[in-house]
Amino acid sequence: MQKALVLGGASGLLGQALVSVLTKTENWQVKSLGRSDINVFDEKALAAFLKEFQPDVVFNTIAWTQVDDAEDHPDQALEVNATFAGMLARLLAQTSCFLLHFSTDFVFGSHSQRLPLTETDTPAPESVYGRTKLAGEQEIFSFLPKQAAVLRTAWLFGPWKKNFITTILQLAQKKKQLTVVADQCGSPTYTLDLARWSAVVAEKRAYGLFHAVNAGQASWFEFASKAIQLAHIDGTVLPITSSQWPQKAKRPPYSVLSTTKLANILDTSAFLIRPWEEALAEYIEQFMS
Ligand SMILES: NC(=O)c1ccc[n+]([C@@H]2O[C@H](COP(=O)([O-])OP(=O)(O)OC[C@H]3O[C@@H](n4cnc5c(N)ncnc54)[C@H](OP(=O)(O)O)[C@@H]3O)[C@@H](O)[C@H]2O)c1
Repeated sequence: MQKALVLGGASGLLGQALVSVLTKTENWQVKSLGRSDINVFDEKALAAFLKEFQPDVVFNTIAWTQVDDAEDHPDQALEVNATFAGMLARLLAQTSCFLLHFSTDFVFGSHSQRLPLTETDTPAPESVYGRTKLAGEQEIFSFLPKQAAVLRTAWLFGPWKKNFITTILQLAQKKKQLTVVADQCGSPTYTLDLARWSAVVAEKRAYGLFHAVNAGQASWFEFASKAIQLAHIDGTVLPITSSQWPQKAKRPPYSVLSTTKLANILDTSAFLIRPWEEALAEYIEQFMS
């Protein structure tokens, strides 16, 4: 049995999914660590904890994820998304522990490409969140070039925490008509699927950068419309443009991710990369009805 430490496992959207998936298998002994346990930025305290628990794999989901807020708090976002990631990687470099870290499609910016982006495409973030997450990736690989995997994911939905789908379904129950942005295209991803892929990557110690999202693509408008249809809510969704829904942080207009590299790692495992619609149907049926 391997020891897994899930940073953010008690309260995060992805962290809770990881804890749920890992504890259901016999391969892992799981511990989560978060704000209420120690100040994770206290290097000495974190080092002492790691020395005592001796994890085989650390899954780091701790991040500043409030994308618009990050524009007003760039230093704090950098501290969580890059400085902390670097400190963790530096501590783990003195051990044989593998690090699995998560990044984002928002490392990409406005480009003319309309083909799914691969791990070798050049990132060009246009938001504080995207820039700090990219800096986090670089920190990690500078200390752990062959002892870490960074999974870039996107548009997460799943149980146990508020997310885009819970917000949309709540709104749709209150209002007959919703407007949702239709000119941003990305890769909706189910946290429980991502957690299962993460476990395989960790078990195989597959190091490097991977794009990890469900198959297919959608605009926010299509994502919301599908959720409302699957939840059998009688509401109308109307498409609008990003300029009709101004947000502080600039989002990439097209950030669909190619998962060919991850699919090769998952090849012999039980977990394939299914279409986001199938995963969304399962989520709504199991957790929202
Ligand atoms: N959500 C998405 O759509 C999305 C898309 C692309 C990539 N990602 C990436 O996926 C990963 C997981 O995202 P998520 O949506 O699961 O994030 P989340 O729900 O916001 O969870 C973030 C976790 O980090 C913890 N955290 C933040 N600041 C902390 C601090 N100063 N000290 C201790 N803990 C702190 C939070 O703890 P508290 O609950 O105590 O604040 C929470 O457990 C992140 O790396 C994110 O960048 C997410």
